[in-house]
Parts: sequence; C-alpha cells; structure tokens
Amino acid sequence: MELENTVAIITGSGNGLGMGIAKKMFAEGASLALWDIDFESVKRLAFELDHSGQRVLPLKVDITDESGVQSAAATTVDKFGHIDVLVNNAGISRHKPLEETTLEIWDAVIKVNLTGTFICCKALAPVMKKQEFGKIVNIASLGGRTGRPGVGVNYAASKGGVIGLTKLLAKELGPSNIYVNAICPGPILTDQTKQYPREVFDTWNAGRAVPKDGLPEDIGDAVVFLASRRSNWITGVSLDVNGGIFIA
Ligand SMILES: NC(=O)c1ccc[n+]([C@@H]2O[C@H](COP(=O)([O-])OP(=O)(O)OC[C@H]3O[C@@H](n4cnc5c(N)ncnc54)[C@H](O)[C@@H]3O)[C@@H](O)[C@H]2O)c1
Repeated sequence: MELENTVAIITGSGNGLGMGIAKKMFAEGASLALWDIDFESVKRLAFELDHSGQRVLPLKVDITDESGVQSAAATTVDKFGHIDVLVNNAGISRHKPLEETTLEIWDAVIKVNLTGTFICCKALAPVMKKQEFGKIVNIASLGGRTGRPGVGVNYAASKGGVIGLTKLLAKELGPSNIYVNAICPGPILTDQTKQYPREVFDTWNAGRAVPKDGLPEDIGDAVVFLASRRSNWITGVSLDVNGGIFIA
C-alpha cells in the first residue's frame, strides 16, 4: 500500500472527483479528513469507507471561510496527530460567454476555486512546516491549462491561477520539504459537468487520443502517486490527466 501512516485532507470530497480521490487514497491505507460544504455527502462517504470512524473524519467546511478552515485544520490535527497531504479539490463552475459573465458570477468562481485553495494552503503550510514534510495536490483543470473555449473566463482564470500558485508555493515551501503539484483533469461526468448539455460535454472530449471516458478514480490514481513517496522529487508540475485530449 502506498499511503500507510499517511493522513490526508481532501476538500470537496462528498461528490465527483473528490469522492473518487477519497476511495483510492483510503484503499492505499491513508486516513482521511473529508471536508465539504455539503456535510451529509461526506458523512455518508465516511460511513461507507469506515464504519468505525477511526480512519475517516467527515467535517463541514466552507473553504472560502478562513477561520472555519483554520478550525477544521486544528480538529484534523487533534484527531490524527499530523497531516501529510492536502488535496485542494473543492471547486465550482459557471460557464458563460464573456459578455454574460457578470461580476457576481466571476467573483463566485474565483472565490471558491482560487481563493479557497489559497486559504487551505495558508492554513496547512504551518502544520507541514513544523513536521518538515508535506504534499499538496491542487486540482486545476485542462481549461486552466489551455484556455479551452467554452469553459468560461472565470473558470479558466481561476484554474490558471491555481497553476501559478502551485509553481510559486513549490519554490516557497520546497526548503521545508513540502511538495506542491497540480493535476489538470480533462472532462469527467460529475454533478459539476452534468449541469451542461451532454452535447456540450462531448465537444470537450474532441480529439481525445484514447477511446475511453475518464472516471473520478483515474484522478484518484494520479493523486495517490503525487501524495506518495514515489513522487519524492517531483514538485511544481501540472500533470495532465485527460486521455490525450491535450498533449503538451
Ligand atoms: N468534472 C470535471 O470534468 C472536472 C475537470 C477538470 C477539473 N475539475 C475540478 O475538479 C474538482 C472537483 O470537481 P467535480 O466535477 O467533482 O465537482 P462536483 O460538483 O461533483 O463536486 C465538488 C464538491 O465540492 C464541494 N464544494 C463546493 N464548494 C465548496 C466550498 N466552498 N467549500 C467546500 N466544499 C465545496 C461540493 O459540495 C462538492 O461536493 C473541481 O475543482 C473542478 O473544477 C473537474
């Protein structure tokens, strides 16, 4: 098992990719703090993974609320004693053409995807620095990497921002033995993507090299790698996990 004696926080883990990431990390032996604004969803998943409650802690957390994130970090340390991995997965989208993107829609997406990621990194960095070890995995997006049409300026900018933040933090936290990487998933059917018509979703897969839809668990496998000791000299990268839709 790749993640024995590892404690990981996964934000937005009650649904979609976060749930796939949680299942893969749990199967590799990690203990998990499942953070989500939707508490019922993480409570259900925690019970499904671990009836005893020993290895999984569900918490209601809004990642845009700095004091709430700090107190959830303290609760997580109290329960497990250390935090080795932070997976910044929680995110939202409101795809609109430029001229229909109101300031309100712009702010809402930037606040969760970019500011929320910043808040969680800031809250957990001191814990990891004290331990002199940590791994941060930020879930960015193909849209942030390529500026693919149709994903919305707010979404592309927020995820492009996550990629920039990842690079800078890799440099800033590297001396403390903290590794910071991003994953850029291609389109995967989840509650987030199901809000758009299926024909629109299909256009996002155009040109894909392999004839296979991506699953949340595929992102989970990539997170396990970046969270494990197998990636111990990798930092600051943005890993494309998209079936070859985009090949850099
Ligand atoms: N699904 C895709 O095709 C795809 C592709 C690339 C990147 N992503 C990214 O992957 C991540 C997960 O996306 P998904 O498709 O699984 O979405 P999803 O909507 O299925 O799940 C997102 C989860 O985040 C939670 N959440 C939302 N706002 C929150 C907040 N403020 N605080 C805490 N939790 C919050 C939701 O309750 C939900 O459980 C997002 O960052 C998304 O942008 C998704």
